[in-house]
Amino acid sequence: MLKGKEIVLGVTGGIAAYKAVELLRLLTKAGANVRVVMTANAMEFIAPLTFQTLSMNPVHTDMFNLISEREISHISLADRADILVIAPATASVIGKIAAGIADDLLSTTVMATRAPVLLAPAMNVNMYQNPLYRENVEKLRRHGFLFVEPVKGMLACGWEGEGKLQDPVFIFEEIVAALSVKDLAGEQVLITAGPTREEIDPVRFLSNHSSGKMGYALAMAAFRRGAAVTLISGPTCLDDPYGVETVRVVTAEEMRSAVLGYFGKSSIAIMTAAVADYRPMTRSGEKIKKKDATNTLQLVKNPDILAELGVMKEDRLLAGFAAETDNLQENAGEKLRRKNLDMIVANDVSSEGAGFAVDTNVVKLLFRDGTVEDLPMMLKSELADIILDRMLYLQRRRDA
Ligand code: C5P
Repeated sequence: MLKGKEIVLGVTGGIAAYKAVELLRLLTKAGANVRVVMTANAMEFIAPLTFQTLSMNPVHTDMFNLISEREISHISLADRADILVIAPATASVIGKIAAGIADDLLSTTVMATRAPVLLAPAMNVNMYQNPLYRENVEKLRRHGFLFVEPVKGMLACGWEGEGKLQDPVFIFEEIVAALSVKDLAGEQVLITAGPTREEIDPVRFLSNHSSGKMGYALAMAAFRRGAAVTLISGPTCLDDPYGVETVRVVTAEEMRSAVLGYFGKSSIAIMTAAVADYRPMTRSGEKIKKKDATNTLQLVKNPDILAELGVMKEDRLLAGFAAETDNLQENAGEKLRRKNLDMIVANDVSSEGAGFAVDTNVVKLLFRDGTVEDLPMMLKSELADIILDRMLYLQRRRDA
């Protein structure tokens, strides 16, 4: 995801410095080349060797180290970087940058770079609320600096409140977002994901194997690309994606009313949810007792949310998914037409590496004009970007 990206990771002197190690691991795992710059105070908290080992690059700590300066100066660090991240960023380094002070390697590199700078502050709650700090942040925001705000929690100083470094996973998400092309800026994207659950009695329900992974991958990709994203999710084990408004629902009817509430303001809607087609005719208030003879469960049809959206879509772009086990292309094509979709993602759930719960998918994309695009097996995160590319293409072609 970050293959070929050059990232400078600045670490300053706060107890959260150890969390920069986790961030470094996430960045290198995603393929980035990371060069770590530590302040003198940061080295009181954590040894440079940790960062050096994990980044497989020398750690830069000194402005005037003749050996490393010969190899890579603060100017080349600043020039090469695609993004400069400071995590944790103390009130002190933020104050310095806001005042234009460049008196050590990190602050000098920030001053010299033309790359975006992302700051992940961490400090005591009183420092965080100090008006001088707040003014510094406002000033830096005005000048285009990016922030990942700290969260509330128990602070190392014993106080409780705002000032805890944001989760490294979320800092990572902000870095990926900052490096992504914002080609979905201005779009309102609505996505459904996961299964629905239709209760039979207080302990039993009807559902399916959907994990929600495809829809969550789409929501994350759309956020990175600058869209305002709403994810309506059935029950899943996944965390709410960073930067995405996530609405949790349980039944198909709840999903329908949530979707209808958001569809009006959406420009693009992608329905990946495996909505249960039927629900029990009645829900028993008590656990249904075992009977000697056979028992029959009466089912009624759930609303087809996607088909309803197809009727009212106007100029919105609408995509659906079709999970099939036979006659994939034919069945999916029929759904595309019947539900008035712009695109359908046809998914042979019986083939290996496709469908439920796995991280990969093998699909065909079908379009209104009869075009079929056969895609090889790929990660759901990669497929998410392709689906969004195609939606943008359709939108541009329509508006041309
Ligand atoms: O007709 P089928 O259920 O196979 O269609 C699948 C597509 O329709 C998916 O995009 C799914 O999210 C959507 N769908 C829906 N409401 C239903 C059933 C399916 O929105 N009740």
